[in-house]
Amino acid sequence: MTPERPAKTLLVAAGVAVFCSLMVSAAIVYLRPAQVAWEEIARSRTVLSLAGLLPEGASAPDRMVAMRFRELEVLVADLQRGQFDDAFDGLSFDMDAAWADPAMLTDIPRASDLARLGQRPRWMPVYLRMEAGAIRAVVLPIRGQGMWAPMQGYLALEGDFTTIVGIAIEQHGETPGIGERITDPAWQASWIGKRAFSEAGEVRIAAAGDGRVPRERAAQHTFDAISGATVTVSAVTDMVSYWLGGHGYGPLLQRLRTAGGQPP
Ligand SMILES: Cc1cc2nc3c(=O)[nH]c(=O)nc-3n(C[C@H](O)[C@H](O)[C@H](O)COP(=O)(O)O)c2cc1C
Repeated sequence: MTPERPAKTLLVAAGVAVFCSLMVSAAIVYLRPAQVAWEEIARSRTVLSLAGLLPEGASAPDRMVAMRFRELEVLVADLQRGQFDDAFDGLSFDMDAAWADPAMLTDIPRASDLARLGQRPRWMPVYLRMEAGAIRAVVLPIRGQGMWAPMQGYLALEGDFTTIVGIAIEQHGETPGIGERITDPAWQASWIGKRAFSEAGEVRIAAAGDGRVPRERAAQHTFDAISGATVTVSAVTDMVSYWLGGHGYGPLLQRLRTAGGQPP
């Protein structure tokens, strides 16, 4: 082998590596807008299904999802004041940006931090299904920490701001076949019709048999347990309990209840 051969081989290999990495980077940049649009449609689909505005569910075409989404009223809740804040436009409010912006984040007192988040934005988008001027359903974004990784989803309540109309877990890192069963539609259906608050207005929702709900109240306030996945189910319960509580949407929901379902 002549001395220049190894140098030439290395040069060609380096050239191929640079070319390939440039191609991958270009593909990522080029495809990013399509990926963002796809995520947006997937979220809208979930929110609409929970609000009861997408009977076709997953089979609804994207164009229909985008059109029906306009039937929802999207408002931004100021969780600190427990009311909607018209300083923000709900439709253009970027929730992911809010979670990433230190100026929007507020510390969660340790005693309230059931969802193990540490911090959360002061403002969160809230999706309202209106009918004859009254709120028929409200869909609330929720986030928390699962057994293995952060979780994200939505909880929907009827216009009494107490009865659950649905839950959806959109992102999680739980074990396939174990904690992943929180995405099972049959398990999520076991939340429907359950009451998330006691008569006194305290958060009261848990898996059957986990001891958080008095036995005589179980029928109203418990959803199905998942055997072998108690840790994940308990994390979902904690996440929901945090977001419905005094440091989450609790004060807003109380205000809406008092206003009799009229947007205050
Ligand atoms: C590799 C591995 C992965 C697991 N993943 C989960 C999980 O994602 N969610 C969960 O709740 N439990 C998971 N478990 C089981 C928990 O450690 C725990 O045993 C279980 O949640 C208890 O539920 P049970 O009281 O219904 O048996 C996993 C266990 C192992 C060994």
